[in-house]
Order: sequence, then structure tokens, then C-alpha cells
Amino acid sequence: MPRPIPVTNNDARAPSTAPGDERAHWLTAYRRVRDETERRAAPLSPEDQVIQSMADASPTKWHRAHTTWFFEQFLVTPHLPFYRPFDERFAYLFNSYYVAAGPRHARPARGLITRPSADAVAAYRAHVDAAVEKLIGEAPSASLADILAIVEIGLNHEQQHQELMLTDILHAFGQNPTNPAYAADWQPPRAAAEAGFLDLPEGVRTIGYDGQGFCFDNEQPAHRALVGPVHIARALVTNAQWLDFMRDGGYETPALWLSDGWTTAQAEGWTAPGHWREADGKWFSLTLAGLKPVDPAAPVCHLSYYEADAFARWAGKHLPSESEWEVAARTGGLADACGIVWQWTRSAYAPYPGYRAAPGALGEYNGKFMVNQMVLRGSSLATPDGHSRVTYRNFFYPPARWQFTGLRLADYST
Ligand SMILES: [Fe+2]
Repeated sequence: MPRPIPVTNNDARAPSTAPGDERAHWLTAYRRVRDETERRAAPLSPEDQVIQSMADASPTKWHRAHTTWFFEQFLVTPHLPFYRPFDERFAYLFNSYYVAAGPRHARPARGLITRPSADAVAAYRAHVDAAVEKLIGEAPSASLADILAIVEIGLNHEQQHQELMLTDILHAFGQNPTNPAYAADWQPPRAAAEAGFLDLPEGVRTIGYDGQGFCFDNEQPAHRALVGPVHIARALVTNAQWLDFMRDGGYETPALWLSDGWTTAQAEGWTAPGHWREADGKWFSLTLAGLKPVDPAAPVCHLSYYEADAFARWAGKHLPSESEWEVAARTGGLADACGIVWQWTRSAYAPYPGYRAAPGALGEYNGKFMVNQMVLRGSSLATPDGHSRVTYRNFFYPPARWQFTGLRLADYST
């Protein structure tokens, strides 16, 4: 059965603990999300938490501290009177890319920071948690709405980093010849066995978020777009299909590839998806449970945009646009739209018509990245519960493949 994907979000929201008690609601939501970060970090030793395997990935310890800095910088410092920072130096260490928030440590050098220790980061988290909880509990009613709006974006921001914690440590473990397991008992989610295509007739449809709950600014303004006619695959592309592509010389056939993709594939020596290893004529994949045989029935994962695009061309199909994906997902007819792998679309990450970034440092959240990246839709096995949305726009550079990324196909034949 297709897995339902929410049209409206419930994101970081927890069930209300008492109807009408907004403060209790958000205290519960705050603790739930913050606890999830620590739960994801718990299997990792202090040594695991220091490592940075490439510039694009960050250490676990950095994720735990940076998400805390976000609340300190944008919520507690401006809104809680007499707040004393845990450590004045942390703003420099744990700012990511917010130019308006001041100078920051170089991203590629995050793995060189052995101190503060993992324990000190835990104390930093507790210090800021106490301040945020005090603010939620005691802020004047007149400013509560503004404060809760920052709590909400801070929790959604932290959920994004929760996903990165898993993708980044998997990439780090991928550098280790002993193939470490994040959690030996981790099991991949079961994918649906759907066949065929969903037919989308030509029509003018609403794209983007037009609900009342939370969304990121890049999902707005909602607007009308011409979509279809197109057929969208109900299922994700599987490892078995990918092995067919490989056996058919997919990685050795330049005509299947974009020029930039071919150059990248040659330079990187790609012959299979990310995290795949061959031994004795069989393929294995490094997973969160360690090295496992590639399951032919499972959706293919750890693909760059370039590989997804080449596969679609080999298959005589296309990647869907993000509008086509969104319209198809709204019908409920896509299997595994969320919860397994993010799906590359052929849409460049660009502003929706009329988009304006918010003023101030938080306006740097999405808008300044709207060039040279491609949109992915859905969500992955690493996306926290409640963080998926049918209008959600993820984005990565075309060569990136350390995320849980796959594809589904579009067909324009009549
Ligand atoms: Fe961040």
C-alpha cells in the first residue's frame, strides 16, 4: 500500500498536553525533539563524534552544539533578559553559515575541534535547554507568538540536523576498512511492492504550501502551474534495476550522461552507487547496521543527481519535475513517497514566483542557496518522524550522494 504523506505538516508539533495550553504544548515539543538528537548520538563514542570525513559532512558533536547555538543565537540571547552564554567562544565555533550572526570557524575544519568535549557539549545543551524552557514558560504573553515562531523553526532546523547526523556518520564509517555499524540491529524500512505508473492528465494545479501550519520559506508562495500529461512511477527504482543498468554498461557509456556528470563519474571512479563494495563477485552496501548484501528488491540508494539522470535516460524515461512529483504525491498514489529515500527531480532549486527571503539572519536559511542545486522530494529513512511534507523541498548539489537519495521515473509517452 502507498505510504501516506502529509499534505499539511505537523513537523515538530507534539500532541497538545492540555487543550489551549500553548506553553505546555511547546515545552513538550521542544523536549521531544531535543531528546531525539541525543538518542541519535547515543550509540556514538566521543571519538566517533569528533570525526569529519569531508567538508560537506559535519561531526556529530558539531551537530549537537550547532543546533543548540541556533536556539541561543536566535531565541534566548535576544529574548531572555539577563541570559549568560554558556561559553562566549561557542558562537564562533558553532555558527554554520549565518553571515549576519558574525564570523565563524571554517566548515572543512570542524573535525579538528577536539574541545569542547562531547561531555561539555552535553552541558552546553542542558544550559540552553534550561533557558529555552524558562522562556517558553515565562515569556510575556505579548511576545509569546514571536518566541514560539522561533522555537518552531529551531525545532525544524534541529530535525534537519538529526538526519545529517546519520548520513554524516555513515560517510565517516565508510572511510573505515572495518565497516563499523552505527547500530548492529538497525533494519532498513520495508519498501512497497507497487508496479505501474500513475497517470496525471494535463491541468493547472497548486504547487507549494498554502496551509496554516509550519513550512520553510522556500515552499512558498503557493502558485499555479501547468502539470502533465505525464505518468509517474508508483514505485522507487530498485537495486535490481540498478544492477541491470550496471551490467548494461551504464557507468561506461558516455552517451547516457550529462557532460558534468560524466566528468565527475570519471574523476571519482564511480562504478556503482555510493557505499557499495564488491567482494567475490557480489555487491554489498555499507548501511547503518554495517556492511550488508545488496537487496535486489530494495530501493536503490546513495545516488548523485548525475547517476539518477543517466539511469532515467538508459531506461528511456525521465526524472519527474518537482511540480509533477508534488501533484502525484498529493493523490496518494505514490508508494514510498516518504520514509525510504529522497527522490531526485529534474528541477533546479530556484525561488517560487514572488519568493522573498525574510529580513535578518534567518533570511539566510534557504534563499541564498537557490542556485546550482537540484530539488529532491519526499523524505528518507533518516528523516525524523513528523518532518515530512508533500511540499517539502530538499536540495543538494548534483554530485552529492552521501545522503539517502534515490529516484522514481517519469514517462511522457502517450
Ligand atoms: Fe544548521
